[in-house]
Amino acid sequence: MATTLQTFPAGLIIRQKEPANLETPLDQVDSYLTPTELFYIRSHFPAPKLDPASYRLRLDGAVRNPLSLSYRQLREMPSETHVATLECAGNGRVFLVPQVRGAQWELGAVGNAEWTGVPLAALLERAGLEEDACEIVLEGADQGTPTEEPIPPGSITYSRSLPREKALQREVLIAYQMNGRDLPLDHGYPVRAVVPGHYGMASVKWLTHIQAVRAPFQGYWQTSDYGYWDYLDGQPVRRALGEIKLKSEIVRPRVYETLAPHQVYTVFGMAWAGETEVVAVAVSTDGGQIWAEAKFLDPMQRHAWRRWKFDWLTPKEPGSYTLMARAKGADGSVQPDQHDPNHGTYVIHHPLPIEVFVDDPDKRLQ
Ligand code: MTE
Repeated sequence: MATTLQTFPAGLIIRQKEPANLETPLDQVDSYLTPTELFYIRSHFPAPKLDPASYRLRLDGAVRNPLSLSYRQLREMPSETHVATLECAGNGRVFLVPQVRGAQWELGAVGNAEWTGVPLAALLERAGLEEDACEIVLEGADQGTPTEEPIPPGSITYSRSLPREKALQREVLIAYQMNGRDLPLDHGYPVRAVVPGHYGMASVKWLTHIQAVRAPFQGYWQTSDYGYWDYLDGQPVRRALGEIKLKSEIVRPRVYETLAPHQVYTVFGMAWAGETEVVAVAVSTDGGQIWAEAKFLDPMQRHAWRRWKFDWLTPKEPGSYTLMARAKGADGSVQPDQHDPNHGTYVIHHPLPIEVFVDDPDKRLQ
């Protein structure tokens, strides 16, 4: 696996202190797998401290044999390991103009890690999932009062449902390890779901309860929050956010960085998608008029990001230049030109403008 050693220390960027909402400084991370200590953290409530000795994972609802598994029993089941990119649905929100409410994520509410656990499908099979179960609700042990209107009365848990077909895909893991080590507390210790291909909100942390249901779940975290407007016969209807949309990001240079004129600067970034593969990334250095192909640094692997680079011969002319990257999917899709207002403050996957200056560094100090 291609990894480059960090040559200088990096830390997380605070977007909110408590509950912890911390962003990865992606410009400082070169590796294919995001080091665990630099992986972004997105939590709605304070992290609950669960004791693995008394931990139980309950699986009930529309199943023939409800289960209650200890941490040890779960770890003794056959496991699988997959690399998957998690992206928070609000990643890139700071680029929306005018500014919108919510954590002001820049580019780093995304990371790529190796996850180990038991396929959710194996647990559902063991429990005997009923034919008429249409969704699987995943519930975390964290609780509190949400901040987005309409605010439900009293404290609620973090719960989200997965459509039956997705829940039965083997890639969906009930995970206990991240990058080869037990999950850290902020990433869901002792057990979390990892739903490759879906925005991060689906990967429920501190998972204690799995419930198969016979009617679509309408919980807070997929209606009031993490929902979007779709249209049915011309009428707006609220739907739960799900699959990650095709996206690429430029992480080097950073916004308003000054680059030397007439030199090769290597633009660096990542691209990923939920349910398709990224087959090409094009880069523009003139605000989106002319595009040229970037080179991939990683092979195509479903649900994992691909790092890419593009050697830019910077102009001789000092001035301001706007860089953009645009990915193409194996299904023929490309990133849209604009943010879709039906997605509100989420799913920001249009090419983000990175404005830089080209200027002679010596002259700048005079
Ligand atoms: N699970 C619980 N129980 N509580 C949460 O607040 N946040 C979700 C998801 N799972 C959340 C959760 C969101 S919005 C995201 S983007 C991912 O966790 C972030 O996972 P990470 O903190 O490990 O990066």
